[in-house]
Amino acid sequence: MKAAQINRYGGSDAVEINRNTASPVVSQGKLIVEVYAAGVNPVDWKIREGYMQQMRSPSLPITLGGDFSGLVMEIGEGVSGFKKGDEVYGQAIALGGGSGSFAEFALVNAKNIAYKPRSVNHLEAAALPLPGVSAYQALVDHIGLSRDKRILVHGGAGGIGTFAIQIAKHLGAYAAATASTDSIKYVKDLGADEIIDYRRQSFQDLLHDYDAVFDTVGGDTYVNSFKVLKKGGIIVSMLEQPHADLMEKYGVTTIAQFTQVTSGRLAKLAELVDHGAVKVYMDRIFPLEEAGEALSYLQKGHPRGKVVLEIK
Ligand SMILES: NC(=O)c1ccc[n+]([C@@H]2O[C@H](COP(=O)([O-])OP(=O)(O)OC[C@H]3O[C@@H](n4cnc5c(N)ncnc54)[C@H](OP(=O)(O)O)[C@@H]3O)[C@@H](O)[C@H]2O)c1
Repeated sequence: MKAAQINRYGGSDAVEINRNTASPVVSQGKLIVEVYAAGVNPVDWKIREGYMQQMRSPSLPITLGGDFSGLVMEIGEGVSGFKKGDEVYGQAIALGGGSGSFAEFALVNAKNIAYKPRSVNHLEAAALPLPGVSAYQALVDHIGLSRDKRILVHGGAGGIGTFAIQIAKHLGAYAAATASTDSIKYVKDLGADEIIDYRRQSFQDLLHDYDAVFDTVGGDTYVNSFKVLKKGGIIVSMLEQPHADLMEKYGVTTIAQFTQVTSGRLAKLAELVDHGAVKVYMDRIFPLEEAGEALSYLQKGHPRGKVVLEIK
C-alpha cells in the first residue's frame, strides 16, 4: 500500500511516499480501516523533526499521521460495537499504538475511534479528532465552561482554537480570542465576541477578570495569561506544565492537558457536529503524495482551520 513515511528525522524532505509499504495486520483490541482522509496536526511535523523521541516513539521507518476518517475493513478479537463497512473516525497515531493515518490502510485501537459524524464527509470528519477532542476535553472536562462564564482562547484561528471558540459559544460562554491580523475576520465569523490581534495588541492589558484561559500557544502567552484571570480562575495549556509560583501568586489553577482521543469524546464531538453546533473549516486539501508539503504548509503557512490529506 501507499504511505507517507520517514526513515530519518528532519524537514519536509525527510517525508517519503512509499508505494510498497506492508499493509498493517489486525491484532487484539484493534481494527484495520481503509483511510479516506487524514487530518494534519502539529504533532505530525513534531514527530517528523524528532521532537517526540522521548515519548514511546516507534522505531523508524514511521508512517506519519494520526487523525483519519474511513471505513472498517477488519476487526480484531475482543472488539465489539463495529462491523465491516462502518464509517468511523479517530486516531491511528504510531505513538499511540496505531500504524499511522497517512496511508491507504491503518491499524487503529478500538478505544480511539467512534462512528463518523453523519452530516459531514470524510475530509471534514478527518479534520476533527485531535483538535476537536482537545477543545472538548479542555472546555467541557477540565474547565466545565458554562453560560455567562468568560473564556480567552489563544490561537483562535488554529486547528484547536477554531473548535474551541465554537464549543465555547455553544455552551453559552463569552469568548475572547487572540489571532493574527489576517485571521481576525475568520475568528469573528466563528462567533468570537472579542478578538485581540496578538501581533499589535497585548491581551493582558485589555482583558481582566476572566474565568478561564485555553492556551494553545505557550511561552510568554501562557505566562501573561495569569494576569487576565480572576481569583479561582483556570488555565488549561496544551504546551506548558503548571507554574506553581504563578498559580500561588494569582490564586488560579492550571492544567497541562495531554489530549486523549477516546471513543466517548469522539462520540460527543460527533453529536455537536451533527447538531450543527460545531462546523469544520478547512483551509487546504492536499493529496497523500504531497504529505511533506502539507506538513510544511501547516507549520509555516498560517492556515485558518484545518489542513487535510485526501487519500481515497
Ligand atoms: N498536549 C497535547 O496533548 C496536545 C494535543 C494537540 C495539540 N497540541 C499542541 O497545541 C498547539 C496548537 O495546536 P493546533 O492544532 O491548534 O495548531 P495550529 O493549527 O498550528 O494553530 C496554532 C495557532 O496559534 C496561533 N498563534 C501563533 N502564535 C500566537 C500567539 N503568540 N498568540 C496567539 N496565537 C498565536 C497561530 O496563528 P498564526 O498562524 O496566524 O500566527 C495559529 O492559528 C500545538 O503546539 C500542538 O502541538 C498539544
